[in-house]
Amino acid sequence: MPSSGGGASVEVPVGGVRRGGLTSAPSGGDRVETQAAVVRDPSIVEVQTQALGVDVYVPRNAPPLRAEVVVDAPPAAVTPAINAAASPAVAANLDWEALRAEVAACQRCDLHATRTQTVFGVGSRQARWMFIGEAPGAEEDRQGEPFVGRAGQLLTSMIRALGLRREDVFIANVLKCRPPDNRDPKPAEAASCRGFLERQVALVDPTLIIAVGRIAAQNLLATETSLAKLRGKVHSFGAQAWPVVVTYHPAYLLRSPGEKRKSWQDLLHARQLFGRLERESASEGRA
Ligand code: URA
Repeated sequence: MPSSGGGASVEVPVGGVRRGGLTSAPSGGDRVETQAAVVRDPSIVEVQTQALGVDVYVPRNAPPLRAEVVVDAPPAAVTPAINAAASPAVAANLDWEALRAEVAACQRCDLHATRTQTVFGVGSRQARWMFIGEAPGAEEDRQGEPFVGRAGQLLTSMIRALGLRREDVFIANVLKCRPPDNRDPKPAEAASCRGFLERQVALVDPTLIIAVGRIAAQNLLATETSLAKLRGKVHSFGAQAWPVVVTYHPAYLLRSPGEKRKSWQDLLHARQLFGRLERESASEGRA
């Protein structure tokens, strides 16, 4: 049984998830696989979750945490409307520098009038993990970098709890400009930015995307399904069906610290899935 690292023992289910297409639905159904990740030692969970700043009492005889993993159908069934409607074709073939310049000069929606600057994204262009949030807040608008306020500090802790460094992953948002008063993105704003995000994902070509929060998840997946229902499953995004898992927004976790334990479940699920995707990709390379 592989270890999840850091001591927690996670039962890794049999394969079936494949990058760049996930798996095929056997008979047109949209759920093709159900698996369970079981954390066997609750005391270890307690230690791990403290890395997130989680102060959760986990009794030793607590039932094991279970994260059910359901792999959705390929994305064509999930995201066609937004993909078709929203991708500014102009972004499709841009390299990093041209894309950054295009974002910086963007006036596709009214948010350009109120922004201090665009917030392109930050991190490694070779990242295997990508974290995608909703939109810049006040601090991000000021600094030009995503997730640098209080919520950003918690996101950095979440990344570190995965055994990663912030600079090793790529962090971006659905919107590149701050909505006034931190209101939710309007559909037209998200649509205007969609092509930029798709191009960023294509350029990074991550093994796994973490959608951070309900708004990011619903925009990425073109759905109105609740976060509660989106959690614990593997979704996909974009032309190459990049795998996506969903977790709570750190700003929500700051307001509701009791939910951090569930967020840690999501991260365990993500780490387990990531390992499997990497192994499968390596074995495909060898084949
Ligand atoms: N919240 C987000 O979704 N993104 C940021 O960059 C900051 C806060």
